[in-house]
Amino acid sequence: MGFDAARHQERIQRVEEHITKEGERIQQHPWREHYHFQAPVGWMNDPHGLIQFNGRFHLFYQYHPFSGKWGTMHWGHAMSDDLIHWEHLPVALAPSEPYDGWDGGGIFTGSAIVHERELLLFYTGCAEDRQVQCLARSKDGVNFVKSDHNPILSEPPKGINPHDFRDPKVWKHGKGWYMVTGVTDGVSNLLEPSSHERNGFGKVCLHHSPDLYNWEFVNYLVESRGELGSMLECPNFFQLDGKWVLMYSPMGLQNRQVIYLTGDFDELTGKFHWTTMGAVDWGFDYYAPQHFQDEQGRNLIMAWIGSWPFMPWCRGQYDTSKLGWYGGITLPRQVSLCSDGKLRSQPASEVEQLRENPRRYGARTIEDNAPFDFEAGDGVHGEILATFDLTESTAEAIGFVLRGSEDQQTLLEFDLRLGEMIFDRTNSGNISAHQRRCLLESASQSQLFVRIFLDSISVEVFTDGGRTTMTNNVFSDPASSNLSVYTRKGRASLRSLQTYGLRSIHSE
Ligand code: FRU
Repeated sequence: MGFDAARHQERIQRVEEHITKEGERIQQHPWREHYHFQAPVGWMNDPHGLIQFNGRFHLFYQYHPFSGKWGTMHWGHAMSDDLIHWEHLPVALAPSEPYDGWDGGGIFTGSAIVHERELLLFYTGCAEDRQVQCLARSKDGVNFVKSDHNPILSEPPKGINPHDFRDPKVWKHGKGWYMVTGVTDGVSNLLEPSSHERNGFGKVCLHHSPDLYNWEFVNYLVESRGELGSMLECPNFFQLDGKWVLMYSPMGLQNRQVIYLTGDFDELTGKFHWTTMGAVDWGFDYYAPQHFQDEQGRNLIMAWIGSWPFMPWCRGQYDTSKLGWYGGITLPRQVSLCSDGKLRSQPASEVEQLRENPRRYGARTIEDNAPFDFEAGDGVHGEILATFDLTESTAEAIGFVLRGSEDQQTLLEFDLRLGEMIFDRTNSGNISAHQRRCLLESASQSQLFVRIFLDSISVEVFTDGGRTTMTNNVFSDPASSNLSVYTRKGRASLRSLQTYGLRSIHSE
């Protein structure tokens, strides 16, 4: 049976009508981000299908427009010339076929490639009893037709749980194409061979195709024996500075939400020989980054700012769901590899066009119990760049108070004695509390450089030359806008402090 274009169009139309009805009310809320991408209404998670097509950037995302909670997924769509200002486009893919869950599950995460001047999307369809891989194509980059060959990959390799076979990321390699998907090992129940139980070990499948329609299983790129996670969601496998990087979002690894592994790809066997493991970002609210290379050859990643309510720190709550929306997308980050195999990520330079109202504060010493107040834009939407001379500092810890007021504050602390960065949102507001900590390499170096992006409800932090990053939501009162630098147990030498306001992408 072929693709039902009329039903697909009707489903897309239904979303557009809903956006028209709810959009304006939702845009007014003070917690809406000023310069991070968000869906116009409803729930969003993973960004995917990131690509530059005919010179313009395309961003697709997991989308449930009809409520502030996850539900039957669609592919939201936006387009940009600069990765910062996004034009909302009609939903690209809506569930309309039995293989993509038109009355359930929906259309899950995937990827995009350009082939013979068409934009091709690969996605997971959630059929009733399994997850399958599908293809859609478009000549204009806006209107998509699902392939009559769907599903193009309907069975996971033997032994894999068919409910956990998803997130195809496809790339060209030589004369053919590779696809990675995340899977969970399934143990067949011998008494009931058609049933599968999960054994708790995640894997990344590697498939190969000569023509994009016929896919052959090559091997498991990696297999967890407990150390990599129980389900390896949203795998990305790409070359970077002479090595290969596998980036994915594991289930079952507690606070490690987004892992990268770097090493070498053995093309003969289809195995990945990795040597370095790291966290792409240490924050509570960073998940499912996707990699793409733009026409300039830059390696860029963008991720979902949000977390799943099943994650322990969410306590089963969705932070803004009651308001009819949830989720955002990080700033685009350019990634490169350090000589020791660690990943470095820096905000793409396009971000700088948003800067306004620059302020520069001269070098100064900050004493214990005498915090230094400063300004960055309106205190809620801004950028902070600070360098501390650690050879001249005696403090055990240097910190920033962000989003401060009489009864709220968010602390970003650099504990030089313990060698840790700590993001403390216990007093940020009454949702999503708790502290996050990670290693701080700069603690034993001569200088500490920190770059912070503040938006209405998110904070992105870069330090250790981009080797350590953290992204968190902060649901503070819009009036909580005070900023200061403080120290604990000793003084700190602040060598330079530069700040900017950051313009809203909606006001231009
Ligand atoms: C990751 C994920 C993917 C899945 C999608 C569903 O956040 O669970 O594995 O395709 O979200 O919305």
